[in-house]
Amino acid sequence: MKELKALVLAGGFGTRLRPLSCTRPKMLFPVANQPLLDWTLKNLSEGGVDTVILAVNYMAEALVRYLGPTKFDLGIIYSREERPLGTGGPIKKAADLLQNGGPFLVLNGDVISDIDYRRLVEFHRRKGGLATIALFQVPDPSRYGAVELDGEGRILRFVEKPEPGRAPSNLVNAGIYVLDPKVIDYIPEGRSVSTENEVFPVLAKEGALYGYEARGLWMDIGVPEDYLRANGLLLAKLDGVQVGEKSKVDSSAEVLPPSSIGAGVEVGANSVIGPNTSIADHVHIGRGCRIENSIIFPGATIGDYTSVRNAIIGENATLERWVKVESGSLIGDYAVIADGVTITQGVSICPSKRVEESILEPRQVM
Ligand code: GDD
Ligand code: MG
Repeated sequence: MKELKALVLAGGFGTRLRPLSCTRPKMLFPVANQPLLDWTLKNLSEGGVDTVILAVNYMAEALVRYLGPTKFDLGIIYSREERPLGTGGPIKKAADLLQNGGPFLVLNGDVISDIDYRRLVEFHRRKGGLATIALFQVPDPSRYGAVELDGEGRILRFVEKPEPGRAPSNLVNAGIYVLDPKVIDYIPEGRSVSTENEVFPVLAKEGALYGYEARGLWMDIGVPEDYLRANGLLLAKLDGVQVGEKSKVDSSAEVLPPSSIGAGVEVGANSVIGPNTSIADHVHIGRGCRIENSIIFPGATIGDYTSVRNAIIGENATLERWVKVESGSLIGDYAVIADGVTITQGVSICPSKRVEESILEPRQVM
């Protein structure tokens, strides 16, 4: 295959994970201790892509600083939006880079997948449509774009965020597309455009939109439950227990697979870590702690006898002693949760907050 480009949508911030961090875009959130975007770029590189155009606005500098001009043998070009251009506008903005070649890939930057891009592109060429969408089967399509397919792989209908019970099927848009350069003509210039609402329904009507049913790993990390699930699935792929350099796990502590512990981590006596847990670099965990099915960002401190279950703890956050964080809750970067406090039921604590009283029902603490 000759030159294959991919545009990765890495802007926008509408997400329930937003309270976690003011400095790190969700594409750089760790999944099995590696930024989400690294998994994506690696898979693109293995799939025959040579150039990635990263469409950025919100927290652009953090992305540029982290990735630089090349990674995993890919050239990386940044396309900066002054104002957010939605999911379609960035394609129009990068038209000069995309329109003079063959078909190109477009990806939502917040999904993780082990899809085989070569097969997807081959399917697209075989069908001869203007656009091909990768599709995955999910139990609840209402948070996604759902499609109606005919027996030939043609998409008859594309419905973005269908109301519960009204989706045409359980096959949803993975946020992974192959587009013919002609699709750029379907995107209005100079404003925010939703590919899902403004372009796909038109292409479907013209019979030019195809769907490729993929199988394997796929997840949008936009909500805590799915982020934790993606983390668990990738940890299971890595298999077993990883422990980074200069980490000290007390001999009476246990790490249950699958789990990953970064570099320079300390785990105190009688603590139990895992399964499905990733602990980033330089995290300090005291004695008698219980951490399972959770993600801990770099530099966090977990005090003695604290438990973290199904939760995400931001960078340099501190949980003091006898704290409980549970059930899809998020603790933002640099936040402090005081001794004995329980945070449960999907509570989000914003960065740098200090919390001294338990919070037992869903809300965001600003
Ligand atoms: N550059 C840029 N500019 N990127 C943006 C902008 C923007 O203005 N707005 C959103 N994005 C990026 C987001 O960062 C994300 O990676 C991707 O575009 C999709 O936006 P989300 O806000 O995450 O959309 P969604 O998850 O609700 O729905 C989309 O993804 C689903 C699959 O996960 C849709 O494409 C659905 O049809 C799809 O099923
Ligand atoms: Mg999303």
